[in-house]
Amino acid sequence: MTALLEVRGLTRKFGQLTAVNNASFSVGAGEIWGFIGPNGAGKTTTMRTIATLDIPDQGDIFIEGRSVLVEPQRTRQRIGFMPDALGTYADTTIYEYLDFFARAVGLSQELRPQRVREVLSFTDLGKLCDRMMDSLSKGMSQRLCLAKTLLHDPALLILDEPAAGLDPRARVEFRELIRALASQGKGILISSHILSELSEVCDGVVVIEKGSIVREGRVHELTKNISEHEMLFIRTLEPVHELERALAEIPGVLKTRQEKSGMVVEFQGEEDAIADLLQALVQRNLRPIEFHWHKADLEELFLSFTEGNLQ
Ligand SMILES: Nc1ncnc2c1ncn2[C@@H]1O[C@H](COP(=O)(O)OP(=O)(O)OP(=O)(O)O)[C@@H](O)[C@H]1O
Ligand SMILES: [Mg+2]
Repeated sequence: MTALLEVRGLTRKFGQLTAVNNASFSVGAGEIWGFIGPNGAGKTTTMRTIATLDIPDQGDIFIEGRSVLVEPQRTRQRIGFMPDALGTYADTTIYEYLDFFARAVGLSQELRPQRVREVLSFTDLGKLCDRMMDSLSKGMSQRLCLAKTLLHDPALLILDEPAAGLDPRARVEFRELIRALASQGKGILISSHILSELSEVCDGVVVIEKGSIVREGRVHELTKNISEHEMLFIRTLEPVHELERALAEIPGVLKTRQEKSGMVVEFQGEEDAIADLLQALVQRNLRPIEFHWHKADLEELFLSFTEGNLQ
């Protein structure tokens, strides 16, 4: 099946500096992929190139199998790029701004008001539509930037650090918007240098460092490889040190570490051994109230990369 986005052997140089070095990855429809790397890693350069705002020195990018370099005009209709900063526009209201860009993407006069209302409502900006743009908070600006990106109903969204500067509640709300867009079938590439920010929403991650992709894959496949053993999370009503002591005596328990008010357990054994583990805890008068597979998050994943566990 043709991927929605395929980046193939992308290289971009600025003089002596290779900002992106032979990068390849892909994103499918309905998927959210995190694009993660430290400052200066090459995220924005890659994203701008996907969005036809820059031209690679080598390689190509395909949207629904069609080359971005050969068909830049078509690409612009199929993708929405949210840059890391929204330009400032004096004397413009939110509505005027969106109406202007709706015109710029070629929406007819008949369709424009409804489409602008739709994106305002999706991003929950409806009530603010008469606010001047230079009076918006960071969170409002980010929402407006997303609203603008959605005007032409693109199949692929390229979002450059959309959650930067948002407060915790706004981050959660932003994640919900992203999830809703993916469930509509849109593919989403979202950059960040904060791993935990993306761990909740991503189907896959592409990790870039100094222009090169150092890791790429689906989160569940990457996390599966961290340990060959089962990872469990257990929390009991009793204090965590009592749980820890009990676990130390139970066969199959290889390693434990405290996380929040429970323990993450690396366990060797099949499902019946896991059931026995639960029973053994109860026999020791511990009362488990949480007992489930522990899902490694991206933060752990990244740490394991640097330890080289995934080699
Ligand atoms: N127009 C340009 N001219 C010269 N160098 C550039 C240009 N654009 C980017 N670079 C350089 O390319 C490298 C990659 O930059 P890029 O903006 O892609 O990184 P990034 O991963 O987006 O970083 P950040 O997390 O800080 O946003 C950096 O070393 C940067 O200085
Ligand atoms: Mg950047």
